[in-house]
Amino acid sequence: MPNPSRNPTRSYHLRRSPPVVAIIGATGAVGNELLGVLERRRFPLAVLRAYASPRSAGSVLPFCGRDLTVEALSADSFDGVDLALFSAGSKTAREYAPIAVRNGAVAIDNSSAFRMDPVVPLVVPEINQAEIEGHNGIIANPNCAAIIALLPLWPIHRRNPIRRVVIATYQAASGAGAAAMTELREATLAFLEDRPYPPRVLPHPYAFNLFSHDTPIDPAIGYNDEETKVISETRKIFGAPDLRIGVTCIRVPVLRAHAMALTVECEQPITPEEACGFLSDMPGVRLIDDRERNHFPMPSDATGQDAVLVGRIRRDLSDPSGRSLAVFAAGDQLLKGAALNAVQIAERLLP
Ligand SMILES: NC(=O)c1ccc[n+]([C@@H]2O[C@H](COP(=O)([O-])OP(=O)(O)OC[C@H]3O[C@@H](n4cnc5c(N)ncnc54)[C@H](OP(=O)(O)O)[C@@H]3O)[C@@H](O)[C@H]2O)c1
Repeated sequence: MPNPSRNPTRSYHLRRSPPVVAIIGATGAVGNELLGVLERRRFPLAVLRAYASPRSAGSVLPFCGRDLTVEALSADSFDGVDLALFSAGSKTAREYAPIAVRNGAVAIDNSSAFRMDPVVPLVVPEINQAEIEGHNGIIANPNCAAIIALLPLWPIHRRNPIRRVVIATYQAASGAGAAAMTELREATLAFLEDRPYPPRVLPHPYAFNLFSHDTPIDPAIGYNDEETKVISETRKIFGAPDLRIGVTCIRVPVLRAHAMALTVECEQPITPEEACGFLSDMPGVRLIDDRERNHFPMPSDATGQDAVLVGRIRRDLSDPSGRSLAVFAAGDQLLKGAALNAVQIAERLLP
């Protein structure tokens, strides 16, 4: 769907290159990956500033062989900043992203604060990078489960429109931030040592267990926030407001990288071989579909990888019409689901 606010007369690029870049939430799980991705991809930088809450002020983060000192975020933090990468939650983004924009920066936000705002582009560059050009200062990074689902769905949808998709996710601790990763490690150790471990960050015992996603549930419809985000964001990114989607999001005791089962029904008949062809041409996707060795996408293989791994591509036997396929995917949601996607957007903003 075209961005209604697109203004072709105004440049969408950063005002200066190399830019002054600020990471807001630099001490968190996504912030840590933002540092790594900027370094690995040699993103051009005049200066890099790291911000977090007052709790972290003065702590030091490694970047390009140097020490980066974290500062407490304030309204003055955006003086001279050209690009602000937000990974500090919705409340912080709502308060500070408009300040960043007023100071002349472009803000790329990892939270859900602006994703469904009709004037804010919601971008997965491999799918809808043209939306970037219509930004008004803020660009939203989609939900991590949505990004990982959409990369394999897009090359199918583009050639043979998807009428209906049913998604079941197996989501890692890292999706709930650095503290949840610590909780999984500690809870597992306690379980193995037969010690009690009352949950602190997540609502249920995490070691050797799984549970419905920990975001609030809407009692009227029985869907949690994560599921609602996947549905609404998929429709916005695909420009398909009526796409039929069902989602069940589950938190599993995996440290990092989300996995998911996707069942798609297309308009026309589709074979697994055709789908493999479409997927092998898709940037950001890697096929792992080895039936002989029973080797398919796994979080352990996806961890630290830029690409979303896709496999188990087969007919959905519940649909005799031949229009439906079942697919399995795994992707590092701290990378492609968050930091990498944000930096890929930023790269397209460089003049
Ligand atoms: N984890 C994922 O896979 C993922 C994927 C996509 C999007 N996201 C989104 O990205 C954002 C960050 O997630 P995360 O997993 O990295 O969380 P996290 O590990 O809990 O990190 C949160 C970061 O935000 C900072 N912060 C908190 N309150 C702040 C404030 N008032 N002012 C300035 N900084 C503040 C924290 O600083 P302190 O260390 O000082 O507390 C920390 O650096 C969230 O909006 C999340 O929904 C996460």
